[in-house]
Amino acid sequence: MIKHMTITIDKPKKEDIKDIQDILREWRTEEDANMYGKAILDEIEGKTTEETIYRNMRFWTAKNDDKAIGIICLCEPLPKLSPFFKSEKPGAIQILYIHNQWRHQGIGRKLVSTVESEARNQGYTELIVRSAPVYETTAWVFYDKVGYQRVGTSPTKDGTEMMQVFYKKL
Ligand SMILES: CC(C)(COP(=O)(O)OP(=O)(O)OC[C@H]1O[C@@H](n2cnc3c(N)ncnc32)[C@H](O)[C@@H]1OP(=O)(O)O)[C@@H](O)C(=O)NCCC(=O)NCCS
Repeated sequence: MIKHMTITIDKPKKEDIKDIQDILREWRTEEDANMYGKAILDEIEGKTTEETIYRNMRFWTAKNDDKAIGIICLCEPLPKLSPFFKSEKPGAIQILYIHNQWRHQGIGRKLVSTVESEARNQGYTELIVRSAPVYETTAWVFYDKVGYQRVGTSPTKDGTEMMQVFYKKL
């Protein structure tokens, strides 16, 4: 059977939030799924600012026809990542998840490249990504392949694990 796919990258709409939360629930807690759902809604409603706890989160979604199958977020990096900053306007990729059935088909690469060009347009000069050890086999080589350098580690909020820090100059 030939699989027809029409993948588009777009800003999320209200009706995409449920699909996006389902993707997040494959990997994250219910609390996180709710928090990101609210952050997406805030952006749609124009309430996102640099001052909110959401650190200016801006989202893009990959869609197959009408269904959201991937999500990525650009935001301001956590201040504790400042030792990794090398230029005047660093940004961060906060979340990146592709629906399990759609992994390894080039969609992650498309989402990263969308965020990079949006970030460049908005004056960002570099991007930082933090990735937890649980993603070592699912994502770290992906970040290598899309041009990010492994520049060090940073502890999780509760200090129990070290996250891998990736860096790309824009
Ligand atoms: C990691 C993830 C976002 C990558 O997106 P994707 O759509 O599957 O990746 P792509 O198909 O765009 O892959 C781009 C390149 O990375 C490689 N790659 C992707 N995942 C890989 C993996 N787990 N191991 C080795 N290489 C990988 C691909 O082979 C491809 O290489 P190529 O250009 O040489 O062919 C996605 O697989 C995913 O959501 N994984 C589960 C959750 C996760 O780990 N999220 C990241 C949290 S920090």
